[in-house]
Amino acid sequence: MALDIVILAAGQGTRMVSDLPKVLHTLAGKPLLGHVIDAAAALSPRSLSVVIGHGAERVRELMGACGANWVMQERQLGTGHAVQQALPALGRDGVTLILYGDVPLVRESTLRELVAMAGKGPLALLTVELADPTGYGRVLRNQLGRVAAIVEHKDATAEQREVREVNSGIMAVPNAHLHAWLARLENSNAQREYYLTDIIAMAAQSGVGVEPLQAADEHEVAGVNNREQLAVLERAFQQRRARELLLAGVTLRDPARFDLRGRLRHGRDVSIDINVIIEGEVELGNGVSIGANCVLRNARVGDGASIQPNSVIEDSDIGPGCSVGPFARLRPGTRMAEGAKIGNFVETKKASIGARSKISHLSYVGDALLGEDVNVGAGTITCNYDGVNKFQTTIRDGAFIGSNTALVAPVEVGRNATVGAGSVVTSAVPDEALAVARGKQRNVEGWKRPQKKS
Ligand code: UD1
Ligand code: CA
Repeated sequence: MALDIVILAAGQGTRMVSDLPKVLHTLAGKPLLGHVIDAAAALSPRSLSVVIGHGAERVRELMGACGANWVMQERQLGTGHAVQQALPALGRDGVTLILYGDVPLVRESTLRELVAMAGKGPLALLTVELADPTGYGRVLRNQLGRVAAIVEHKDATAEQREVREVNSGIMAVPNAHLHAWLARLENSNAQREYYLTDIIAMAAQSGVGVEPLQAADEHEVAGVNNREQLAVLERAFQQRRARELLLAGVTLRDPARFDLRGRLRHGRDVSIDINVIIEGEVELGNGVSIGANCVLRNARVGDGASIQPNSVIEDSDIGPGCSVGPFARLRPGTRMAEGAKIGNFVETKKASIGARSKISHLSYVGDALLGEDVNVGAGTITCNYDGVNKFQTTIRDGAFIGSNTALVAPVEVGRNATVGAGSVVTSAVPDEALAVARGKQRNVEGWKRPQKKS
C-alpha cells in the first residue's frame, strides 16, 4: 500500500530554553528528529516530508542528508495548518502517517500496525491512557464506545478533562479523505489555531470511522517539551537498550549506569562495569571486559581484551588479549596487535603497536610504528611535531626504549636495539646497538650545599 509520511517539526520549543531548535536536541547522541526520521524511513514510504519553521535553516543543515522533502511552514498556525503545507507531496490514494519530530521513541512495529489499520479504510489514531492527562487532547467516545472527537485541553470542559485517554498526535489517515478534511479546518478555538485533531470528528461523522490503537508504553508516545522530559526519555531509551543487552548475554554491572549512543555489537560473555559510555560503532569480542568510567567511540576490541577503568578510546582497533589502562587515552588511529599493552597515563595517536609490545606508563606515542615485543619505558615521548609538520617514529621488533627517552622524529630504532634511559634520540639507532644520548655523569667529591645563616 502506498504510504506518505509527514513529520511535524516547525514548533518553537520555547520550554527547552535553548538557542538550538528543539528537534535538534539529542537523545542517545542523535537528534530527536533523527530518531523519528529513522522510524519513518524503516517503513519505506513513497514520500517523506518534514514540516519545519523555527530554526529551519539549522534543521536542514544538520539533517539535510536524510533524503526527506523539506516543507516550510512560515507561521505556526497549528498542527492542521502544518499538514496543509505538505499536501502537495501527498498522493490521492494510500495512507498518510503523521508523526511528531519531538516524539522520538515511537516503535516501528506500532507504526506498521497503525498504517495497516488505516489501509482498511478508517482513520487510525494512536492513543494512550495517562495518569495525568493535563495539557493533552482528550479522546471523546460516544455511547457505543466509539471515538467521536478530540477536544484540546484548553477547549475542554471540566467533565471532559476527567478523561484520561489522550491523543498521542500520531495518526494514519486515508488520503482519499485527508485533502477534503484539511480544507474544512477552522481556527475558532481557544488557541486560534488550525487543529489537525478536528479531522477526528469529521472522520467519525462521515462514516469513514476512527479506529483507535492504544500504545502499550507511555514513553513510546511521549513528546519532549522541556529538558526534564528529554532526560526521562533518555533514561527510558537507555533502559530498553540495557535490557536488550542483558538478555543477549552481556553483563552490565548496573544497567542504570550504562549509556549507548550508537551501535554495539558484541560476542559472548562481555562484561561492562558502571558508567561506561559507548558511542558510534563499537564492537566487543568474546570475553571482553570494560572497567568503570570508560568511554569508547568507534572502536573494535578483540576477544579476551581488557579495558581498565577511566580509559578513553576513539577510532581505535584493539587486538585480542590486549590490556589497556587504567587511565589510558587512545586517540584516533591507534592499532594494537594481539597481546599488546598500554598502561596508565599513556596517550597514543596514529600508532600501530605490534604483538606483545608494551607501553606501560606515562608516555606519548604518536605517528609511530612499533614492531613486536617492543618495550617502551616510562616517560617516553615521540617528538612528532616541529610546529608545522608531523613526523614518523619507527621502533623495530624487540627494541627496548629506556625510561624518559625523547625520540625526535623522523627517527628509527633498529631491531633488538636498546636506548639508554634519559636519551634524546635524534638519529637512527642500528639493529642490536645501544644508544646513549644524555649528559655524562660527573661526581664532585665532598661537595657541600650552601648553608642557611642562623
Ligand atoms: C498536540 C495535539 C494534542 C495531543 C498532543 C500530543 C493538536 C491540535 N493537538 O497538542 O491533541 O494530545 O499534541 O503531544 O494537534 N507543529 C508544527 N506547526 C504548528 C504547530 C505544531 O509543526 O503550527 C508541530 C510541533 O513542532 C510539534 C507538533 O506539531 O512537533 C505538536 O505541536 P504542539 O504545539 O506541541 O501540540 P500540542 O498543543 O502539544
Ligand atoms: Ca506538545
